[in-house]
Amino acid sequence: MLGNFSYSNPTRLYFGEDSVSFLADELKKYGPKVMLTYGGGSIKKNGVYDDVIKALREAGKEVFEDPGVMSNPTVQKLYEGCKIARENNVDLILAVGGGSTIDYAKGVSVSAWCDEDPWDKYYLRMEEPDNRIIPVGSVLTMVGTGSEMNGGSVITNHEQKMKIGHVFGDNVMPKFSILNPRYTFTVPKYQMTAGIYDIFNHICEQYFSGEDDNTSDYIAEGLMKNVINASRIAVKNPEDYEARSNLMWDATWALNTLIAKGKSTDWEVHMIGQAVGAYTDATHGMTLSAVSLPYYRRVMPYGIDKFARFAKEVWGVDTYGMTKEEAANAGIAEMEKWMREIGVSLSISDFGATEDMFEGIADSTFILEGGYKALTKDEVVEILKESYNYK
Ligand code: NZQ
Ligand code: ZN
Repeated sequence: MLGNFSYSNPTRLYFGEDSVSFLADELKKYGPKVMLTYGGGSIKKNGVYDDVIKALREAGKEVFEDPGVMSNPTVQKLYEGCKIARENNVDLILAVGGGSTIDYAKGVSVSAWCDEDPWDKYYLRMEEPDNRIIPVGSVLTMVGTGSEMNGGSVITNHEQKMKIGHVFGDNVMPKFSILNPRYTFTVPKYQMTAGIYDIFNHICEQYFSGEDDNTSDYIAEGLMKNVINASRIAVKNPEDYEARSNLMWDATWALNTLIAKGKSTDWEVHMIGQAVGAYTDATHGMTLSAVSLPYYRRVMPYGIDKFARFAKEVWGVDTYGMTKEEAANAGIAEMEKWMREIGVSLSISDFGATEDMFEGIADSTFILEGGYKALTKDEVVEILKESYNYK
């Protein structure tokens, strides 16, 4: 293991079909005023809202509802949430939903008592909070981002055409998260598969870096194999509890900092995907899948050993007698086959990206150096072109 690091994760998880019964115990730990944050209303249709309200009532909480968190939450919505949290002096923000709702809750948590513009402070200048932080808890309803056990908070500013994630520290991570796989059964198929690819890509972003023998890579391979296996079952039968529960647990471990330990980590697919998202407001996981194949084929020669290992260990390619290049290409071909099978986007043209956006998207793509190759702006444009024309 390279580098020096510390590891802890402050989020307490409650997992399983009965996990919501633990909400009452958690609620006892906080004051009487709870801000209940959720999205566009799916939780009212599938009964999750009723479960949560019941626990809040039984705990005697005063509830301030903050609905309408959109996918890819905006800075305007963040300002609205801050107002509700501050004016009512809430003691806890309970986020019920997917990554958007939980990310937004973390944004409100650090911003409500911040006297500066939180967009400038946290997302543009990437400063850490030095004001009161409101604790966040979550009830997860959609699997993918890992937001239930990490400090990530991604906010979109449509005016500035920027989508930026700030990874906050332990003090902002959810205090607790309730993970009931059954709550995810009603997620629309498009969102489910986007979430599955998001999980897979989080693992890739950490795996495709470094050349040392590293525990994190072996854990990553195990997680990837389970995502592939469970996803194949879940797309055929979304109500397969075993598959959905495995996906839920995989997603949490894919991005709760464990498999980043001892790794430089890449994250360039996410940087391009987020810039595409800022221009198109497309579903996060689909922006990633659409740029992944051109990206990985481009960086493959710089990390050929890892790509050959990926083929053998993750995809079960029989690499005997192959050159490293042949093995690496065979691995990416298997990945493409799987992506087609589960039905994720392979082209940014699927969700309205147009050629006149390429320069702007490339300009707002952050270039990172932890992967096998730092891209040039021209290479980002090439990747976008290849994705746009991908058949
Ligand atoms: O708005 P509601 O009604 O909740 O509907 C949502 C939304 O339309 C729906 N949904 C969620 N659970 C459901 C359900 N529909 C029916 N039944 C259920 N049980 O699904 C849609 C998508 O939800 P959303 O929360 O937007 O999806 P996701 O979890 O993929 O979150 C995406 C956001 O997270 C950010 C993304 O950039 C994006 O803004 N990310 C956060 C990360 C983090 N915190 O570390 C990392 C990720 O890489 C990602 O960037
Ligand atoms: Zn992601």
